[in-house]
Amino acid sequence: MDSLGALRRTHTCNELGPDHLDREVILMGWVLRRRDHGGVIFIDLRDRWGVTQVVFNPERNADVHAKAHRLRSEWVLAVRGTVCRRPADMENPKLKTGAIEVLVNELLILNVSETPPFPLDEDIEVSDNLRLQYRYLDLRRPEKAGNLIMRHQAVMAVRNYLSENNFLEIETPMLTRSTPEGARDYLVPSRVNPGKFYALPQSPQLFKQLLMMAGMDRYFQVVRCFRDEDLRADRQPEFTQIDMELSFVGEEDIIRIAEGMIQAVFKAAGNIELQPPFNHMTYDEAVQRFGTDRPDTRFGFELVDLTETLRGCGFKVFNSVIAGNGVVKAINAKGCATFSRKDLDNLADYAATFGARGMAWIKIREDGWQSPISKFFSADEIKAMGEALGVEPGDLILFGAGPAAVANQVLAELRLELARRLGLIKEGTYDFLWITDFPLVEYDQKEKRYSAVHHPFTAPNEDQLDLLATDPARVKSRAYDLVLNGNEIGGGSIRIHRRDVQEKVFAVLGIEPAEAQEKFGFLLRALELGAPPHGGIAFGVDRLMMILTGSDSIRDVIAFPKTQKATCPLTDAPAAVDRKQLTDLSLRPDW
Ligand code: AMO
Repeated sequence: MDSLGALRRTHTCNELGPDHLDREVILMGWVLRRRDHGGVIFIDLRDRWGVTQVVFNPERNADVHAKAHRLRSEWVLAVRGTVCRRPADMENPKLKTGAIEVLVNELLILNVSETPPFPLDEDIEVSDNLRLQYRYLDLRRPEKAGNLIMRHQAVMAVRNYLSENNFLEIETPMLTRSTPEGARDYLVPSRVNPGKFYALPQSPQLFKQLLMMAGMDRYFQVVRCFRDEDLRADRQPEFTQIDMELSFVGEEDIIRIAEGMIQAVFKAAGNIELQPPFNHMTYDEAVQRFGTDRPDTRFGFELVDLTETLRGCGFKVFNSVIAGNGVVKAINAKGCATFSRKDLDNLADYAATFGARGMAWIKIREDGWQSPISKFFSADEIKAMGEALGVEPGDLILFGAGPAAVANQVLAELRLELARRLGLIKEGTYDFLWITDFPLVEYDQKEKRYSAVHHPFTAPNEDQLDLLATDPARVKSRAYDLVLNGNEIGGGSIRIHRRDVQEKVFAVLGIEPAEAQEKFGFLLRALELGAPPHGGIAFGVDRLMMILTGSDSIRDVIAFPKTQKATCPLTDAPAAVDRKQLTDLSLRPDW
């Protein structure tokens, strides 16, 4: 093996072009590919920036050429050579350096490599686990490296923008108390305080509020958050937020700052020009029309409520749902009457995964309505349904019936699935939507108590404070979410800055005064000592980057992500620990 010695590279593998002809250069990188052409050896040398073709010609330098015979994929090289124009028929317009090649005069082999467990120069099917186990190899691939580069550009744009707008980046503790964001905590036992635990923050929510009380006025942080929840494509146990908080502001100020920041991110990371202000929709309207508070509004298939139209109808299933305070809603899948029985069965199976007990459908044909259930409806009901849904021959009606939450979710998911199947979602479109006027609390049937829709520190609508004691479910909050293409990418609110209001909200949430004092006494105390009006928002960096890079999962934009089971195949975390470590922590497990 050769040593680098005093040799230093002059260029990256993506820099050289016709401007550099005849220059002597030094490149360093990995062997991406190697081709032998009648004695001449071609190597595609790769680094983070790109690829350059380097050439070993026996007639030019026999010793170097002989040495190049040993080279294999992923060996690490330094080459000194002369930049030459490629023969016209060998130019590669797809490559930034495709007009030139480097004729090598000196070769250093800096390291060898075993054959990698999967090839890095082609996109073959490899298990996710293997890719994660060898994440450092997978990240050598330009697509993956590109995601991290873009993420860096986005975060730099955030830091610049917020700094220009008078925000201070301030760090908050990782070893802290539980912050209620609705997930389970990751706990860390304290050695010096036996039996006591820190919680890793689900977000810096309370610290950022305390920073407002400290007079910092505008805070931000690019911060890791930890939530022990079931994982999905858009959820990781540790993820990154762009977190911010502002004093002396209202909703519209925060929204304006946030829009400017998103605009700067899209420009810097994707060269995409956005045109804020973004559209707004109330929570009630979103749920009514799309069945969800994070609607993808790039296509139609809106939900239509048929509960009143079908009250007392001849179809027993719908009738009993309506009698039991449930709802019957439907979407008009335009032009989908051609779906086969198998297509419909597939959709029904899909709907079942979201709690549907079946999926009624009606095909609209030239010669009438065709469906196992159409015979149960009167002519008036058919007319009223047809008008409400705006059906024409060739359309397909899909029903969702049940408790409102289930019917809404089933139809919300069906409309997304239909759009995917029919290819209605245009790549490279960015549909931003602010959702506002959320309910402050919702009733949790299982727990038999109210829980905060956003979090317990979100301000109730000022005009509805009286309702807190009498009818909390009707109180709206001053929260807002930003939705992009049907993904919730950010959420925030104006906060409570008065102790009496905070105590009232705790009471609605069933947090007794003693418990409030024990868990949040420090906040309640701070609210008595000159807390300014304040509010903020946090964006999910990983989700934002998933969409910007066009990835399917947030794992693709995280350097070292976890699997669906919250494990890391690379380091094998989580792992067992020595009994000694546990006893030091005063833990006596019995597993
Ligand atoms: P919230 O809980 O809505 O608000 O989180 C803000 C944003 O963080 C992202 N996010 C996640 N991303 C990946 N994996 C997860 N498990 C995950 N959970 C959330 C989402 C979400 O919109 N403290 C409040 C903010 C505030 O009120 O200012 C908070 O954390 O994109």
